[in-house]
Amino acid sequence: MCGIVGFIGKRQASPLLLDGLQRLEYRGYDSAGLATLVDGNIETRRAEGKLYKLAERLVEQPLPGTVGIGHTRWATHGKPTEANAHPHATDLVAVVHNGIIENYRELRSELEKEGCVFASETDTESIAHLISVYLRRGLTPQQATEAALKRLDGAFAIGVIFKGHGDLLIGARRGSPLALGYGEGEMYIGSDALALAPLTNRIAYLEEGDWAELYADKIIVHDADGKTVERKIHITALSGAMIGKGQYRHFMLKEIFEQPAVIGDTLSTMVTPNGELTLPLLPFDWKKVSRLTIIACGTASYAGLVAKYWFEQLARLPVELDIASEFRYREAPMPEGGVTIAVSQSGETADTLAALHYAKAQGQKILSVVNVPQSSIARASDIAVPTLAGPEIGVASTKAFTTQLAVLLCLAIAAAEARGALSPVRAKEILQALRELPALINQVLRDEHYFQELAQNISDARDVLYLGRGLLYPLAMEGALKLKEISYIHAEGYPAGEMKHGPIALIDDALPVVFLAPSDALFEKTASNIQEVIARGGKVILISDKKGVASIGAKTWKSIAMPEADPAVLPLLYAVPVQLLAYYTAIAKGTDVDQPRNLAKSVTVE
Ligand code: AGP
Repeated sequence: MCGIVGFIGKRQASPLLLDGLQRLEYRGYDSAGLATLVDGNIETRRAEGKLYKLAERLVEQPLPGTVGIGHTRWATHGKPTEANAHPHATDLVAVVHNGIIENYRELRSELEKEGCVFASETDTESIAHLISVYLRRGLTPQQATEAALKRLDGAFAIGVIFKGHGDLLIGARRGSPLALGYGEGEMYIGSDALALAPLTNRIAYLEEGDWAELYADKIIVHDADGKTVERKIHITALSGAMIGKGQYRHFMLKEIFEQPAVIGDTLSTMVTPNGELTLPLLPFDWKKVSRLTIIACGTASYAGLVAKYWFEQLARLPVELDIASEFRYREAPMPEGGVTIAVSQSGETADTLAALHYAKAQGQKILSVVNVPQSSIARASDIAVPTLAGPEIGVASTKAFTTQLAVLLCLAIAAAEARGALSPVRAKEILQALRELPALINQVLRDEHYFQELAQNISDARDVLYLGRGLLYPLAMEGALKLKEISYIHAEGYPAGEMKHGPIALIDDALPVVFLAPSDALFEKTASNIQEVIARGGKVILISDKKGVASIGAKTWKSIAMPEADPAVLPLLYAVPVQLLAYYTAIAKGTDVDQPRNLAKSVTVE
């Protein structure tokens, strides 16, 4: 998604804005730009492609000024060209925008009739012209911005600077997040706290419909009705070190290796040292919950699918899981006394937020599992249970996924115990297995070279099939997503039992088939599937444990023995091999691991 930064103070804005944009690169983008006031006049510098091109432009044509805005653009309307890059400016204003203005065509034709000349294909440029028209009618920058915001339909976070107003920067949000940063004699806006981490740890978040006037020494926030309001200032724990790569080549690898620690950190907030659950007080009684609905997108939805198995098997609680972008439109009837769990790393995914609002409107209690405690999804929930994964910069979600699983399993155990569906002995066993996981994951990470070698064998494949049963079926889906999103190799995840209902037609000696098959209760069933693939010349990669590899590994093309663990916690353990396999395949392919093409870290538009 697009990234926004803004600065007002006494220092030169450009270098600070460029650094802020670099911290937003992980969101994914295809062009970038800055705008400042130079002797009171708007000046912009924009470039297609990566930020270094903008940096080169700034060396060629320096951009002075102490108030400015910056943007990394993930193209929605109009190709990723310099002309479509933000900021979009008239002679009176410059604007950066994250979101989609749904009525921009109507606004554009109205503005063209007023004599406005458009230079881009973007929806954003309409905002710049609209504010300018109001300014020409004699409104102040604040009045002009407020009037323009009222005309916009859709989602936006925007930053605006004004000709002749070197003391003012305006930010506004509706549907896309915008953070306010409080400095000493300087103030900032940013799409998230990460962008502002080197500048300040004092962060507030605009609420829906808010807009803010930033001056070097103060910020005035107005709500949707124009009333002046206070938004709580949070002290973030983010630091430059937390968002550096350290000794790792990529953020994704660093975050894969952080999993033992962050799973441990997350569990420490939910399980006491003597193995008792200590969950936050929930605004509902698990005994009275008639049905659970889980909504999420992408990797988070696969965490939700694992949780479906856990809640149904352990707590005997019916669960409906749906992809948020489908759920938000299918008008699902929802039961009295239902609870909805929204799972999201960023807490800003537009489809998940919209699905949450649908469920809320249907009278559901909302629990969210998020990695950003002050995110929009967290703030829209009745209760937000945080994952303590720390900032996840790699576009491919890894440590957020496994910490989501840790939280969801603890919630499932709590529900099971409250509903009398799980013996205290079994509950303790699972919690103990969870607490032992970080050590087991470290074992797998120590053997990362196996996955490096394995990746060499699949990096030339055109397609790869991932198969698993039961709790490992969602991991097959996740493994396929990891591979395709960073190596660009087509991959599909499927329930192993479904192979005979279609995918078996794909089997030939060019198709690697990855089986996630621990020697659990379903192993023999999956072993038959493995035999069926081998019988047709398929190249089976078996990821199992010692017992499983001993039983059938000799017949497979490649096999890797994972440590043994309680069946309930295997999804967290088996996430690591599929992450490493995807990572090293992407390395072999030479793709941009941390910022894969076309992808954004947080999809804040539909
Ligand atoms: C996962 O690797 C992808 N980056 C993507 O599927 C992601 O999980 C999805 O967009 C959901 O994001 P969220 O967890 O921030 O809501």
